Amino acid sequence: MVTKRVSGLKYAIRDVIAPAKEIEAEGHKVIKLNIGDPNRYDFDTPRHVKDAAYQAMLDGKNYYGDSQGDHPVIKSVAARDKRFNGSEADAYLLTAGASEGVYFSFLSLIGPGDEALVPSPNYPQYMSVSQLSGGKAVEYLCDEDNMWAPDLDDMRSKITERTKLLVVINPNNPTGAVYSKGMLKQIIDLAGEHNLPIISDEIYDQLVFGEYTSLTSLVKDTPLITLNGISKNHIAPGWRIGYMAFRNCPDIQEACMAQGRVRLCVNEPAAWGFKAALDGPQDHVEETKKKLLRRRDYMMKRIAEIDGLSCVEPEAAFYAFPKIEGVSDDKQWVLDLLHKEHVLTVHGSGFGYAGRGHFRMVYLPPVDVLADAFDRIERFMAKRI
Ligand SMILES: Cc1ncc(COP(=O)(O)O)c(C=O)c1O
Repeated sequence: MVTKRVSGLKYAIRDVIAPAKEIEAEGHKVIKLNIGDPNRYDFDTPRHVKDAAYQAMLDGKNYYGDSQGDHPVIKSVAARDKRFNGSEADAYLLTAGASEGVYFSFLSLIGPGDEALVPSPNYPQYMSVSQLSGGKAVEYLCDEDNMWAPDLDDMRSKITERTKLLVVINPNNPTGAVYSKGMLKQIIDLAGEHNLPIISDEIYDQLVFGEYTSLTSLVKDTPLITLNGISKNHIAPGWRIGYMAFRNCPDIQEACMAQGRVRLCVNEPAAWGFKAALDGPQDHVEETKKKLLRRRDYMMKRIAEIDGLSCVEPEAAFYAFPKIEGVSDDKQWVLDLLHKEHVLTVHGSGFGYAGRGHFRMVYLPPVDVLADAFDRIERFMAKRI
């Protein structure tokens, strides 16, 4: 018998892989638009970052590292934080991706009876880790009619004495939204009124097509945990390196550091590769954005041409969250598309209640692959109507 904590645990983005494997086992090729992994397409980790990780292995850095992260790596994280957000945090903790930072934060703050406020739609890990921590995720609405910006009234109405944590994902997965400075300030004020610690997930902060202000740069005395890492900005999601930056939250900071000691340390050579990614040239970021913009524009054009689909234009990262007209069972829609046309997307309801009637796709593949995928989606939609 498994515990209540893990029973029924879901992660929509990977849960859809099983039916896709069945189709592949029948000998069909599936166009996979489900996972936000640039390395599965024509993007790669910069050479100098790979070299640094390899060099670390050659130099004998194959030991258990410091639990917090080796000092020179932490120094580079702090310098990056200052460059991007205007200040250094009180402390940093290297983690196995931003994901481990989600675990550490939730285990520190959420227990039975506690609630974490998370966006809807949201990156589903936050819902699942809420469940694992024994507490509950409560979703605040992000408004599709307002470029998927958080609805502050809805957020305010959901704060109770059980609320222990507020999660902000900006730039956002799954919507690709980027929040305005004014919006971020209001969120910080609201958290401040209720003395709520914020988790600011900024994992896509270099992959923004227009203006961007980080929530971190605006915080003065609100308790804040910022999550970031190598996966997206530096195109190395398989390395599993990220970090937590703590501001104004000494107790949470120490609780997370203690968890860091319990799990020993991060992958040491990968941490040194991350240092090179932080300190070294950033040319790959501009190249990545240029490719992504071309693909986003192509995708938006194709979506606009398909009856029954509409989409708020993503302003960052590599996800789109189109709406499917007249569809309530979005999971069935995703499965039907997979079975009939061999295109794998993710059902919007897997991202929370505001995702119902939508699907999430990545626009990471080159235009010829996207063209093939959209020809299939168009045919599928035409047969439906
Ligand atoms: C919003 C968001 N946060 C965190 C993560 C996980 O990042 P990492 O690879 O650093 O664990 C992802 C991955 O897709 C994400 O989209």
